Amino acid sequence: MLLPKINPTTTKAWQQLDAHFETINDAHIQELFTSKKGRRKAMSFIWEDISLDYSKNRITSETLELLLQLANECKLQEAIDAQFNGEQINETEGRAVLHAALRDFNSMKPEVKAALNQMRDFSEKVITGAWKGHTGKEIKAIVNIGIGGSDLGPAMVTEALTFYKNHLDVHYVSNVDGDHVMETLKKLDPETTLFIIVSKTFTTQETLTNATTIRKWFIEQASEEAVSKHFVAVSTNLEAVRGYGISEENIFPMWDWVGGRFSLWSAVGLSTCCAIGYTHFEQLLKGAHAMDGHFKETSFDKNMPVILAMLSIWYNNFFQTETEAVLPYSQYLDKLVDYLQQAVMESNGKSIDRNGEPVDYQTGTIVWGSTGTNAQHAFMQLLHQGTKLIPSDFICYTESLYGNKDHQEKLLANCYAQADALAQGTYGKPVENNFKRFEGNSPSNMLKIEKLTPNSLGKLIALYEHKLFVQGVIWNIFSYDQPGVELGKKMAKARLG
Ligand code: F6P
Repeated sequence: MLLPKINPTTTKAWQQLDAHFETINDAHIQELFTSKKGRRKAMSFIWEDISLDYSKNRITSETLELLLQLANECKLQEAIDAQFNGEQINETEGRAVLHAALRDFNSMKPEVKAALNQMRDFSEKVITGAWKGHTGKEIKAIVNIGIGGSDLGPAMVTEALTFYKNHLDVHYVSNVDGDHVMETLKKLDPETTLFIIVSKTFTTQETLTNATTIRKWFIEQASEEAVSKHFVAVSTNLEAVRGYGISEENIFPMWDWVGGRFSLWSAVGLSTCCAIGYTHFEQLLKGAHAMDGHFKETSFDKNMPVILAMLSIWYNNFFQTETEAVLPYSQYLDKLVDYLQQAVMESNGKSIDRNGEPVDYQTGTIVWGSTGTNAQHAFMQLLHQGTKLIPSDFICYTESLYGNKDHQEKLLANCYAQADALAQGTYGKPVENNFKRFEGNSPSNMLKIEKLTPNSLGKLIALYEHKLFVQGVIWNIFSYDQPGVELGKKMAKARLG
């Protein structure tokens, strides 16, 4: 079975939510807390090392029931099953969507296992120094040459897992900005640098231009024969890679059933695997796999991706909010928002439904944000006192990695205080004048994770992957293609003549 093709606005639940919205729109979160004891407990749950508190939303238990009814009427469970069963749910491209299979250690596809083994062997050689450069020196630096999904996921994860990193110095070159390429190369020694060219299609202009420039720079200082010791590639397009002079044993596979923005779990994550070592990389995959199980098997009322997705739909389609903020209280997650922007906006930035008709309701949300507490000293003013309603996700870790208690207490106090201030404002409290008034009533979710580990990071990323899938299912759009990126590419080509 392919994905259902139900216009969500024609469901009973949608009509009921429309009416229900009128009763909720005027209610204040603070009021909802005082009128119902035990709200926080009722609207929180823990799964493994992650807790979700969604009590600071503009909802009642009835809202949630209706949202889950909407999910049922849109046949969400059938859609989830279709994805995990490998149906060709990416209908416009005739492909299955199986990034979850990349981390399914229970029943792993043989080609996935073989690629992981290849990654393990290769990364071990590089890390231990068994892999030598053309002058017999060990590799000290790695440069990932890729863009979009071939850059953002690995770059985000490598940075997020800095604590678990080894001695290798890892760089990411994505933009076709020659100055950035030169600034990166300036720091590198061709004798001790390994370049990983990552491109699912091996046709991407930026990546091929950067790879060509870097290869030329390398050959000028080494030789054509030395390329095989310093360049490896990850792609589905083996012919194009071979044509590029990369030897067979240095090619890592990719498959058309993995979308670029969901590919960090595959050999696209080779730079990460080298940076943190295979054991940690496998833990990342296992964390994501655990989240896959949670998503597939848990009833919707205790299903993290489903709850987050349906709340986001509540704001997007009934409150007509345009954006949502993601606010991780961990500097390690500095690149999470960049990564999510591609994952979410490239997936759900669609206006044609699965029947091929234009939609007459809002789809993909705009995701933005930054790390706390930096955000508090930058844009949070607008969330507190501006005119726009912006739902937020707070993400924090109970434990810090280096164990500095003083900093951690301050970090967490700020995180919780922001969520409280957004929800409560100065509601019911005397204020000197209007300038000091905070409306409050700004919704947020609190994701509290015990500790940043490869495993918990895998869970977090998979959580957002599944959230965006649920949203696409309900909005009746195809989330796994991206035809909207093609026109600009063609126009740029035409300009270059
Ligand atoms: O143009 C957008 C896009 O196709 C993304 O979806 C993808 O992640 C990126 O380009 C890079 O593509 P590739 O890995 O094929 O070079």
